[in-house]
Amino acid sequence: MPLLDKIQRREAVIGVIGLGYVGLPLAVLQAKTGYRVVGVDEARGKVERVNRGDNYISDVDDAELQQAVTSGRLTATTDFDVLKKCDVVLICVPTPLTRNKEPDISAILKVTHELARRAHPDMLVVLESTTYPGTTEEVMLPILSAGGLKAGQTLYLAFSPERVDPGNRSFKTHNTFKLVGGVTPACLRIAQAFYEQSVVKIHPVSSTRVAEMTKVFENVFRSVNIALVNELAVLCDRMGLNVYEVIDAAATKNFGFMPFYPGPGVGGHCIPLDPYYLAWKSKEYDLHTRFIELAGEINEGMPYYVMAKLQRLLNQRGRCLNGANILVLGVTYKADVADWRETPAIKVMELLMREGAALSYADPFTPSVKIGERSYEGVEVTAARLKESACALILTAHSAFDYEQIVRHAQLVFDTRNGTRHVKEKKDTVILL
Ligand SMILES: NC(=O)c1ccc[n+]([C@@H]2O[C@H](COP(=O)([O-])OP(=O)(O)OC[C@H]3O[C@@H](n4cnc5c(N)ncnc54)[C@H](O)[C@@H]3O)[C@@H](O)[C@H]2O)c1
Repeated sequence: MPLLDKIQRREAVIGVIGLGYVGLPLAVLQAKTGYRVVGVDEARGKVERVNRGDNYISDVDDAELQQAVTSGRLTATTDFDVLKKCDVVLICVPTPLTRNKEPDISAILKVTHELARRAHPDMLVVLESTTYPGTTEEVMLPILSAGGLKAGQTLYLAFSPERVDPGNRSFKTHNTFKLVGGVTPACLRIAQAFYEQSVVKIHPVSSTRVAEMTKVFENVFRSVNIALVNELAVLCDRMGLNVYEVIDAAATKNFGFMPFYPGPGVGGHCIPLDPYYLAWKSKEYDLHTRFIELAGEINEGMPYYVMAKLQRLLNQRGRCLNGANILVLGVTYKADVADWRETPAIKVMELLMREGAALSYADPFTPSVKIGERSYEGVEVTAARLKESACALILTAHSAFDYEQIVRHAQLVFDTRNGTRHVKEKKDTVILL
């Protein structure tokens, strides 16, 4: 049966490589759509958990995962040989940076080579990982077609970025506009037909490069705007203005303004990394993307700013950071998610430790964290703990925190996320970013 028919009848077998924050929700969505799905991941622990129906991604519904597994629609393995039987393969592996902030596409390369050994005619391969423009066509296509498969004829190759916003209750994969770019018009047609089965709205673009560029641009846009508002926060601090009041006032404008909020830095697997993919690629075209570098510089400076301001706040109260008990509230990269990859909280904690602060932390999503060689166990936020700490430092404003209690009992609250904004009794012991 031709691939298009198999897709439209939902008889195609779908392989999802990489069962992380992106891959697992996608695998469950495809199983829910009616396809048989095999997940492939090198992490045996994840594979075993999926096969037990044991959820580890908060954006995945427990019942939906269990249903997908017990119905036999979703299985997982570490064995790439299952890809031989797949009609559609979605690649969702990590795209980190090297130590020198250059793209590390080794996972894409590795799985593409594995796939090339198992690829067969009439196969759709879609890269969903975020990467620099050109990856699908310049890097993946030569590897996949080395055995004789021809793009647009026997092999359909596309790029369709995942735009998931972890923790977002309104927008999930199925109702977020899905961009799709194909290596050829036929590749686009097949890829579009595939996503139309499970996603409400598709936005086709003219090439994989456009789709890759769009995804990175979206994250550069966020990085630059966050940097802008972070710089504004530093200026407002010097001028004695409340930056949140300024942002709220600007947001009353009905057009031409979109609020972004400052914080102790940026985190997660996207905003701190993806812009550098573009900055790296742009050098091939004799262009230095200065906005990207500048935004990175400002955002990466925020943990240092937080440390310096905390030092100043303690000084003003006749104390010093060295030896002070600092209770850090929230360590994940954003509120109400369990992901602490690239979180600025760890950087802030490292800096505070270096200055001799005595740290403890609380985070309902993270029972322990590793800073340098040392592991820390999270503590409970109690009135006694708040009272004995020199400062409660809010780095991630989880909704589970009791901000009334924090403000009531802490000697000093340094709130870098405006988590205390709804506290009824405002006190001068609360200092914003
Ligand atoms: N997390 C997000 O919010 C988000 C949003 C949009 C796009 N993205 C992009 O999606 C991609 C995946 O991100 P993620 O957050 O899901 O990462 P992740 O680390 O949560 O998951 C990646 C999975 O791939 C597996 N893996 C790594 N190398 C492998 C290999 N060689 N073979 C088989 N499995 C391998 C890992 O074990 C892991 O389970 C990245 O490019 C990221 O930039 C992420």
